[in-house]
Amino acid sequence: MNIIFCSTLLVSFLTNIVWPRTIRAMDDQPDPYNWLFYTFECPQECFCPPSFPNALYCDNKALKEIPAIPARIWYLYLQNNLIETITEKTFVNATQLKWINLNNNKITTDGIEKGVFNNLKSLLYLFLEDNYLEEVPAPLPTSLEQLRLARNKISTIPEGVFNNLENLTMLDLHQNKLLDSTLSSNTFQGLSSLIQLNVAQNSLTKMPPILPANVMQLFLDSNSIQAIPEHYFDAMVKLVSLRLNNNKLTDGGLQIKVFNISSLLDLQLSYNELTIIPAISIHLEHLHLDNNRINSLSGTQMCPIPIPGDYAYERNLPQLRYLRLDGNGIKPPVPLDLMLCFRLLQALVI
Ligand SMILES: *[C@@H]1O[C@H](CO)[C@@H](O)[C@H](O)[C@H]1NC(C)=O
Ligand SMILES: *[C@@H]1O[C@H](CO)[C@@H](O)[C@H](O)[C@H]1NC(C)=O
Ligand SMILES: *[C@@H]1O[C@H](CO)[C@@H](O)[C@H](O)[C@H]1NC(C)=O
Repeated sequence: MNIIFCSTLLVSFLTNIVWPRTIRAMDDQPDPYNWLFYTFECPQECFCPPSFPNALYCDNKALKEIPAIPARIWYLYLQNNLIETITEKTFVNATQLKWINLNNNKITTDGIEKGVFNNLKSLLYLFLEDNYLEEVPAPLPTSLEQLRLARNKISTIPEGVFNNLENLTMLDLHQNKLLDSTLSSNTFQGLSSLIQLNVAQNSLTKMPPILPANVMQLFLDSNSIQAIPEHYFDAMVKLVSLRLNNNKLTDGGLQIKVFNISSLLDLQLSYNELTIIPAISIHLEHLHLDNNRINSLSGTQMCPIPIPGDYAYERNLPQLRYLRLDGNGIKPPVPLDLMLCFRLLQALVI
């Protein structure tokens, strides 16, 4: 009984998070008598579910070209095909599109005709992961909320392409070929709603010049970043999760206080070259410092406040729950002052 109860909860949780628009779409279209009309207008390569007339499923069909998309379509699934090009006529009638999933195809930058996405004034999600793009497609509709471009070969971001995307909340560029020179100080300017930026697995040696102030999740893992400028995170007052695993950070490349960010809950610095534990805020809950070069551990030094005396009377205890320090050559036992500082610690890996 318990298990069934839990999974129902989980499903409704996921449904609310991931599919809110889909559900609304079905509510908005109580039009069963149009079944024949909708079926008639279905490209023969694709599947048009009668109960969901705004969706068009053309995924996993070995398609080399995109069929003509009927005007009624909001949700377009074209993932896992062999599509190489997107031409101007592709979306000419489909101006109501909200979602386009073109993940895992063979689309190149030259294969995208200039301005194909420009007329899609309602487009919210554009997924082009696992293609052969060398540039971020431009121009993009200003309505976009999610742009997923992971696992392409992107090394160029056209000037100003993100500047008017005021509603973009998620930009995923991980596993591409971004260089320091790809990013200029106004590349991400204008992304005033951006919550998640993922530029992991690229070829950056520096932090991006300027990031939008509202970012909450910043993923920079597996680059070759050596240093972080002083005050880099000062304007990012909503930053919750910062991942810099697998870089080349050294003590000399950063100020010890640079990660003392009071909004931060999750800080990941595994596989770097640090010998000193950076200062953390009292609010931090997860800290990954495994596989660095730290060989001594002092709770007194690491504690963000003077070591709390009487637990019962201490209101602002350090919130750290999870601490990884393995792969550093730190020898047990765990110092007593560490345990006295981090009273809420649930897991410590040495
Ligand atoms: C667009 O709609 C017009 C009018 O219904 C139709 O003649 C034309 O073939 C459509 N074009 C595409 C590419 O679907
Ligand atoms: C951004 O979202 C708001 C609220 O949903 C909407 O009113 C506005 O038109 C959107 N902006 C663009 C450029 O689409
Ligand atoms: C970290 O920041 C807090 C609050 O902003 C401050 O009180 C504290 O002294 C800082 N810690 C270090 C080591 O700078």
